[in-house]
Amino acid sequence: MAKLSYTSYILLLLLVVAPGSKGQGQNNGTDMTPLQKHVSFFDRNKDGVIYPTETYEGFRAIGCSVALSAVSAPLIHAFLSPKTNNGSLPAITLPIIVAIIAKGKHGSDSGAYDTEGMFVPEKFEEIFQKHAHTNPDALTSDELKEMLKANQQPNDRQGWIASRTEWEILLLVAKDKDGLLQKDTVRSVFDGSLFYKLEADNKSLK
Ligand SMILES: *[C@@H]1O[C@H](CO)[C@@H](O)[C@H](O)[C@H]1NC(C)=O
Ligand SMILES: *[C@@H]1O[C@H](CO)[C@@H](O)[C@H](O)[C@H]1NC(C)=O
Ligand SMILES: *[C@@H]1O[C@H](CO)[C@@H](O)[C@H](O)[C@H]1NC(C)=O
Repeated sequence: MAKLSYTSYILLLLLVVAPGSKGQGQNNGTDMTPLQKHVSFFDRNKDGVIYPTETYEGFRAIGCSVALSAVSAPLIHAFLSPKTNNGSLPAITLPIIVAIIAKGKHGSDSGAYDTEGMFVPEKFEEIFQKHAHTNPDALTSDELKEMLKANQQPNDRQGWIASRTEWEILLLVAKDKDGLLQKDTVRSVFDGSLFYKLEADNKSLK
């Protein structure tokens, strides 16, 4: 990936007004892979395409700050859009096409999604068998770091940064009152239900 200026992508985020639906297939949750369900939370208008503005809204909805959301959204799109846009939409708008999200899978991950975006229960269990030392059903922040290090593949800086960012944001938004990442919470990330729950919690807090 060419070196991107973060500021230019933030500017782009502010300038790009989400274009109207281009009809990449309606997404109502049926017939989607677990990975597609996971990302389609960010498809705010459920038109099958996620634009940076939608990712920004999604991050805000689960309780992330303006700053974190404004920095993460354009970076995530800069990374994923080239892999998940098959050329049917203008590249400059950084679209992520939900139907092709499995192509956006990166290295140094937990393997709990396979290359098709299906959930792999054994890999999910492995996370906790290998790294949940303090409590059998939860990860501490240090155990999370240990897991990320263990999954790190050689010469895969980009995948490793992506994994680290995902898990650190997850810890930030979904840790319990003791700072732990519960197994049930992590499971609900992989089945796609966590973000909807966080959004509901966030709303009822208000
Ligand atoms: C998905 O939603 C659209 C529009 O809301 C609706 O027309 C369609 O029947 C739904 N499809 C399924 C499979 O539920
Ligand atoms: C979620 O919580 C954050 C603060 O934690 C708040 O700024 C934001 O507006 C909330 N979002 C919604 C959709 O309630
Ligand atoms: C791109 O992918 C979408 C969603 O799968 C599909 O509807 C569309 O026909 C594809 N376009 C091209 C040019 O391959």
